[in-house]
Amino acid sequence: MPTYRFSVELSESLPMHPDETPIQPAELRTFVSDLFQKTGMPSSDADSTAEVLVGTDLRGIFSHGTRLAPNYLKHILDGHMKAHPQPKVERETPAMAVVDADRGIGHLAARDGMQRAIEKARQVGVGMVNVRRSHHLGAASIYAMQALAHGMIGFTTTNTGGPSVAPFGGRDSALANHPLAWAFPTREGFPIVIDTAAGVAAWQRVETMRIYGQKLPPDWCLDKEGNPTDDPAEAFIMFPAGGTRGYGLAVAAGLLAGALSGGQVPSRRERYNAATDSEHTFTAISIERFVSREQFLGEVDEMIAACHRTPPRDGFERVCLPGELEWEREQQWRENGIPLHRDHLTLLAEIADRLGVKVFW
Ligand SMILES: NC(=O)c1ccc[n+]([C@@H]2O[C@H](COP(=O)([O-])OP(=O)(O)OC[C@H]3O[C@@H](n4cnc5c(N)ncnc54)[C@H](O)[C@@H]3O)[C@@H](O)[C@H]2O)c1
Repeated sequence: MPTYRFSVELSESLPMHPDETPIQPAELRTFVSDLFQKTGMPSSDADSTAEVLVGTDLRGIFSHGTRLAPNYLKHILDGHMKAHPQPKVERETPAMAVVDADRGIGHLAARDGMQRAIEKARQVGVGMVNVRRSHHLGAASIYAMQALAHGMIGFTTTNTGGPSVAPFGGRDSALANHPLAWAFPTREGFPIVIDTAAGVAAWQRVETMRIYGQKLPPDWCLDKEGNPTDDPAEAFIMFPAGGTRGYGLAVAAGLLAGALSGGQVPSRRERYNAATDSEHTFTAISIERFVSREQFLGEVDEMIAACHRTPPRDGFERVCLPGELEWEREQQWRENGIPLHRDHLTLLAEIADRLGVKVFW
C-alpha cells in the first residue's frame, strides 16, 4: 500500500492522497465565514473565525482547522456557545489581566487575549492574559504567532475538556490533552513555532489517522478497558508525550491556564460536554526589554544553523526546526490550494446544507 503525506511529519515529496481535493484558501474563508454568519455571529467576528480556521489548515494542522467548524457551529446552534458574546476584563494590572469571555467561541477570545498580552508587553516588557468562560481555541500556535508581527515571543496554552490522558505510570486518565505553543521571531523565512499536545498526539490527530485508514503506533493509546490498541476508533486513553515530560506539561497547562483563571482542572469535568468552559493563557514577551534584538536574533540564527547542519539519521530526509515544515506548506498551499480529505469536505457540506449555504467545490 503506498504511503501518502497527511501530516507534518510525513515527507512533502510523497504524492497527494487520492481522497484529497485542493481547495483555494480565499474561497474556503468566505464559505466558513458565511456558515458562522448564519448562526447570528457578526460578520467581522465570522471573518476572523474563518481566518483562524483556514490559517490552521494552511499550516497542515487539519486536526484543528475547518474540519472542526461543524462542531463549533452545532455548539452555537445548540446554545452551548454564544454567537455574539460580551467579554469583559475582570482583573487587571499593567502586566496581566483576567478576561471573562462570556462563553463565546474560543478562537475569538484567544485572539483578543493575545492582543491584550501584546499591548501589555509593549508597555511593561511582559504581558500575561488569562481568559476564562471560553471554549475550545483550536491550534494553540495561531495565537502564539500573533506576537511575531510585533517582533515579540508568544506563548499560549489552554485547559480544555475532561480527563483523556493518563498520568505517567497510570492506566486511567486524570489529565486532559492540552496543547502548548511558543513562537519565536527569526531574521527571515520561517519563524520557530513549537506547538505540541501534552499527550503523544492531539486527539483530533488520532481522528485524522482514522480518516486516512492509518494504525496508531503501539505505545500511544489504551481502549476503554485499559488495553493497548492501535485502532484510532477504539483509542480512549492516551499516554503523555515523552513519558514524564508530557505528563509535566499537561499538569502545568491545566494549572497555568485552568486553575489560575479560576477554572476547574480536567478531573472535575466530564469527558465530553459541549457546555463545559475552557480557559486559556497568553504571554507576550518584548525581546528588547531583555536583550538587544540583534543579539537575540544572532543566537536564533545559530540555533537554526546548528540543527540544519546535523546530518539526518536513517529514515529522515532532513533536519527541520519546529514550525519550518508548516511554514513551507503555507507558502505552497496559498498558491496551489489546501488538500482537504473527502470526509473533511463532507462534514462541511452537511453543516452547510443545514445552514442553507451553498458549497463551492
Ligand atoms: N485546543 C486543544 O484543546 C488542543 C489539544 C491538543 C492539541 N491541539 C492542537 O493540535 C495540533 C497538533 O498537535 P500535535 O501534538 O499532534 O502536533 P504534532 O505532533 O503534529 O507536532 C508537534 C510539534 O512537532 C513539530 N514537528 C513535527 N514534525 C517535525 C519535524 N519533522 N521536524 C521538526 N519538528 C517537527 C511541529 O512543528 C510541532 O511543533 C496543535 O496545533 C495543537 O495546538 C489543540
